[in-house]
Amino acid sequence: MRYFNKKLVIVAALMATTGTAQAADVEVLHWWTSGGEAAALNVLKDDLANQDIGWNDMPVAGGGGESAMTVLRARVTAGDAPTAVQLLGFDILDWAAEGALANLDAVAAQEGWDAVVPPALQNFAKYDGHWISAPVNVHSTNWVWANKGILDDLSIDEPSSWEEFVAAMQKVQDSGKTALAHGGQAWQEATMFDGVVLSVGGVDFYRKAFIDLDPAALGSQQMVEAFNRMATLRSFVDDNFSGRDWNLASAMVINDEAAFQIMGDWAKGEFLNAGKVPDRDFLCFRVPGSAGAVSFNSDQFAMFNVSSPEAQAAQGEMARAIMSPTFQSAFNVVKGSVPARTDVPNDDFDACGKKGMTELAAASARGTLVGSMAHGHANRAAVKNAIYDVVTAHFNGEYDAETATEELVTAVDLAQ
Ligand code: BGC
Repeated sequence: MRYFNKKLVIVAALMATTGTAQAADVEVLHWWTSGGEAAALNVLKDDLANQDIGWNDMPVAGGGGESAMTVLRARVTAGDAPTAVQLLGFDILDWAAEGALANLDAVAAQEGWDAVVPPALQNFAKYDGHWISAPVNVHSTNWVWANKGILDDLSIDEPSSWEEFVAAMQKVQDSGKTALAHGGQAWQEATMFDGVVLSVGGVDFYRKAFIDLDPAALGSQQMVEAFNRMATLRSFVDDNFSGRDWNLASAMVINDEAAFQIMGDWAKGEFLNAGKVPDRDFLCFRVPGSAGAVSFNSDQFAMFNVSSPEAQAAQGEMARAIMSPTFQSAFNVVKGSVPARTDVPNDDFDACGKKGMTELAAASARGTLVGSMAHGHANRAAVKNAIYDVVTAHFNGEYDAETATEELVTAVDLAQ
């Protein structure tokens, strides 16, 4: 019980069994501020409102959550942690190690989470054998979002190899449209890098490089090739890419300005929010060359230690609500992600959602499911940020591919 306040655990357990404490508001820190994300967030807010749990919103804009994490650190340091916080991967484990998170074992046992949450998610939702967060979804990063009308007009088939993808982008660029919609922010470049590294060397190479941090893989010719592919992608973005938010890049594809975006499936939320329909208006497919592999990240809500029994009751109720199968379906249909439990029917999901669910299950069975480097599921934040720096410097022309590869080996070494 090194990191839990025993008294809190007992109170939470009592409430979970007797339901006596009155639930209060939850203050929720998150980075779901785009149109599609806000629509999904409303599903959660409404669900809690129906159970008389008030919502105190603490949004911190910035895809990937870097800014949110800075605000969170400041709040915790000031002794004023929010009740519930959207967290990713290794960040969850780091906060648990600091003793900041509440124990959710009681609600997890009541609701049978052990049996329905896939092991890949439990690795981040449990610490020292105890539940410390509630996974709300599974996203994955190695996706391409394509404007079907532009592809049809230019007689471009869905590309299935990297070479076909490059040829398709060339054709779009030659037509005068933007081939690749991209937002020049480090996390977005890193998100593309997840898919590119998979396309070069598959899951074995990805694992060695991003999870094992093997210097030989990080410094290999395959990594040079991955950086060369990033340079190719750079040649297909428009001149105004610097600093653009990811959802504005999605909007370029939605509004017929650009053909493709490489982005996690939260991008689908933007398409849906704009009234677009998969297979009619847009296509979703894996980064060509990475089919079969899934680089995943799971948004989870961790509950920070609070002392009032009412606030604890609200935390327990929020965790319970997040994990309910009907909520997992309703929320993920809108968010673009897939459920974080294995027993949710796919009936309400669109073609991309069904594909995502099937591919996640297949990758999990085949051993080709890997944690996203870009979204904190391959390694701790220090390593992730070191990789971000090199990838973004290369993308912006500071290094050639060989130098970037050498810098990557050094940066990862120093970050450990
Ligand atoms: C989160 C998504 C979010 C995306 C963009 C990712 O890190 O997992 O839920 O939509 O960032 O903000």
